[in-house]
Amino acid sequence: MENEALFKLSYGLYVTGVKTENGFGGSCVDSIAQISHGDPPRVAFGSMNQNFTTESIRKSGEFTLSVLGQDVDPLVIANFGFQSARDPAVSKWNNVNNTLMDGIPVLDGAIAQIKLSVEEIILYDTHTLFLAAVKSAKFGESDAKPLLYSEYLAGWKDKVFAAFGQYKKDRADQT
Ligand SMILES: Cc1cc2nc3c(=O)[nH]c(=O)nc-3n(C[C@H](O)[C@H](O)[C@H](O)COP(=O)(O)O)c2cc1C
Repeated sequence: MENEALFKLSYGLYVTGVKTENGFGGSCVDSIAQISHGDPPRVAFGSMNQNFTTESIRKSGEFTLSVLGQDVDPLVIANFGFQSARDPAVSKWNNVNNTLMDGIPVLDGAIAQIKLSVEEIILYDTHTLFLAAVKSAKFGESDAKPLLYSEYLAGWKDKVFAAFGQYKKDRADQT
C-alpha cells in the first residue's frame, strides 16, 4: 500500500475545547470532517486515545472547535498541540484570548467557532471517533483564509517549534 497517498486528503487545522476535571482543556487537531448537512449538521472528530482531550470529551459529551486561519499565532498551535492538559501545571486556555460558547472556551481570533454535542463514540486501535451534532456556530474575529494541515506540514512546523521553544524558555526563566 502507498501510505503516502493518504497525504493527498485535505484537512484544516482546529483547536478543540473541552471541560475537564480541573478546568478546561483542548488540543490542536486536523482530523475533522463535516459528514452531514442535515438539521443539525454533523461532524466527525478523530481524537488520539491517550489524549486528555479524548477522556474529557468521553466524560462530558461535548466540545468546541475553533477554526484556525492563516493569521494564527504559531504559539497557539504549539500551546494546544505540543503539551497535555493532563499536567495540572498546563493551563492552555490561560495563554490565549478566549470566550465561553455555551460554557466551553473558543478562541476569539478563530475564523469560526462551533459547539458540538457527542452522539456516538467508536473506539479504534489508535483513535476514538466522536460523531457529534452541531449545537451552535458563529464567525470569530478573523476573516483570514483557513489554515490547511498541508500548509502546516510544508511551511509552519518550524515556526511552531520555535515558538514553543521560546515559550518553554520564558517559563523556565520565570521560575
Ligand atoms: C498540527 C497538529 C495536528 C494534530 N492533529 C491531531 C488530531 O487530528 N487528533 C488528535 O487527537 N491529536 C492531534 N494532534 C496532537 C494533539 O494536539 C496533542 O497530542 C495534544 O498535546 C493533546 O493534548 P491533551 O492531552 O491535553 O488532549 C495534533 C497536533 C498538531 C501539532
